Amino acid sequence: MFVPYRFCFLLCWLHLSPLYAASKQDDRVTYQTIDGFGVSQAFQRSAQMHGKFGLSPENQKKVLDLLFSNTGSEGAGLTILRNGIGSSTSSEKDFMKSIAPTSPGSPNATLKYEWDGKDESQVWLTQEAIAYGRLKTIYADAWSAPAYMKTNNNDSNGGSICGVSNAPCTTGDWRQAYANYLIQYLRFYQETGINITHLGFLNEPDLNQTYASMLSSGFQAADFLQILRPTLDASGFANVKIVCCEATGWDQQAAMLSELQSIPGASDTLSVIAAHGYASDPKLPYRAPQRVWQTEWADLNGRWNPSWDDLGKFGEGIGWANKIQQALTVSNCSAFLYWIGAETTSTNSALIKLDKDTVTVSARLWAFAHFSRFVEPGAKRVRAESDKGFVGVSAFVNGDGGVVVQVLNLGHVGLGVRIEILGIGRIILRWFLHTTQTLNASKPPLQSVDSPKNTASPPAPPSSSPTPSATFQSHDPATQARPLTGSSTNAAPPSSLSPSLCRTGRTSCPTQ
Ligand SMILES: *[C@@H]1O[C@H](CO)[C@@H](O)[C@H](O)[C@H]1NC(C)=O
Ligand SMILES: *[C@@H]1O[C@H](CO)[C@@H](O)[C@H](O)[C@H]1NC(C)=O
Ligand SMILES: *[C@@H]1O[C@H](CO)[C@@H](O)[C@H](O)[C@H]1NC(C)=O
Ligand SMILES: *[C@@H]1O[C@H](CO)[C@@H](O)[C@H](O)[C@H]1NC(C)=O
Ligand SMILES: *[C@@H]1O[C@H](CO)[C@@H](O)[C@H](O)[C@H]1NC(C)=O
Ligand SMILES: *[C@@H]1O[C@H](CO)[C@@H](O)[C@H](O)[C@H]1NC(C)=O
Repeated sequence: MFVPYRFCFLLCWLHLSPLYAASKQDDRVTYQTIDGFGVSQAFQRSAQMHGKFGLSPENQKKVLDLLFSNTGSEGAGLTILRNGIGSSTSSEKDFMKSIAPTSPGSPNATLKYEWDGKDESQVWLTQEAIAYGRLKTIYADAWSAPAYMKTNNNDSNGGSICGVSNAPCTTGDWRQAYANYLIQYLRFYQETGINITHLGFLNEPDLNQTYASMLSSGFQAADFLQILRPTLDASGFANVKIVCCEATGWDQQAAMLSELQSIPGASDTLSVIAAHGYASDPKLPYRAPQRVWQTEWADLNGRWNPSWDDLGKFGEGIGWANKIQQALTVSNCSAFLYWIGAETTSTNSALIKLDKDTVTVSARLWAFAHFSRFVEPGAKRVRAESDKGFVGVSAFVNGDGGVVVQVLNLGHVGLGVRIEILGIGRIILRWFLHTTQTLNASKPPLQSVDSPKNTASPPAPPSSSPTPSATFQSHDPATQARPLTGSSTNAAPPSSLSPSLCRTGRTSCPTQ
């Protein structure tokens, strides 16, 4: 049963007691910078979004809103899109077609480009996503080089780039050709008005698959990077950042990274270390100065499950909220991506399910929304602590000084919360409250309301502007209405700042 919105807001406010206070400067720590949250529509999932299987223009707009809008109550406001750079000879089925599908004969010959300006609707999707004004990271990643550049002469079934160590080919060394090829892809996008910000040349290089796949060790990746980086720099793409290596899991990427780091200069060419979550979950931070992204993970096997928190299944929203939060707070991630945003599927491979012209949203989308709508690209993670092991808390400071806090209650008991924000700033609070009842995830949980006005005078602002940090304290639900102790009772946001926002809604508020 659902609490009506108004009651829900009231309850949330009673739970909420922001405390502005000066505190010791040495408490203040900032951690990694956030790049954002996103999905991919590779393997023609962008074409599916564009109506390949009957999605009407009206519902195409709806799906775009759900993924990329952060206004109203409708969207997750994603800020990263991961496109696929094709390697196949055709666009049949869900192959991604190469921009140079036929061999020019030898590595030094000019590649024979074919470009239709659409790239299987990825150009359309990218332009539409950019139009929402939030997409800051356009990441293009190649699952494989074209067949003729590889040891196995096929873009599927593993194989390596001809010319990296231990991968000789009778046709010669194709590393420079592959670098040129990737740069031409950037140029084709530039012609459509899209600047790709990040480039990857591998996907799951530790796995031999019957679809586009290419194997690489960390040493072999280094052999290609020493050509790719200078070629980018010499071609007017010095500001395009290289992402590597998209291994199937955190540990697999760690192994590749240590090989890569053992080659002098190789890791300096990288801006982002990327790993997937499938084979091993994100764990301790990598020992490296680069940004860290979790670039692909999903529940690929579980039957479609739109619920927030029901039976503890892998596909449920709350589990993904926890994975995102852990990746950010424990594993030092600057970005977290689900595999697919929207596609025709019977599993939990996507956040949104398409079935001809029917659109079904999973609570996983709202798990992303709790982060992506509020934590802006460029935000810094700050210290956040909880006094309960089953309650996760994360906090971020946006570029405008706004503080965003997510509180995730993984215990199946209702809890009141008190959040103390140390330092000064506008507060945006996100709520992950939960009780044992099943929550309805078919409605967006995101609503906002201004906080009640508090007439008490604000505490004196600290003389300097320290970095905020957040402390979460649980409260017995029975005591929520009682005034909180200490100065928090009368605390109010300093009048010079925007009113606090308690953004909340159905799936994230306590039910009765
Ligand atoms: C390709 O060009 C490179 C550099 O100019 C040269 O060293 C190499 O021998 C050429 N390879 C072939 C197969 O012609
Ligand atoms: C490449 O591999 C795929 C998948 O095994 C196979 O169907 C296809 O015939 C191969 N292509 C070539 C050119 O050998
Ligand atoms: C990849 O798998 C294919 C098909 O199972 C096999 O023929 C090939 O030898 C494998 N390649 C490598 C490098 O393991
Ligand atoms: C893309 O990059 C070019 C070159 O740096 C720049 O002139 C152009 O304004 C950029 N376009 C967009 C849409 O950011
Ligand atoms: C976290 O990542 C940043 C780069 O985003 C890096 O500078 C920093 O050293 C990393 N922190 C830890 C604890 O590994
Ligand atoms: C969830 O909400 C939708 C839309 O309000 C409604 O149609 C549906 O019956 C609800 N489902 C459950 C399980 O309450």
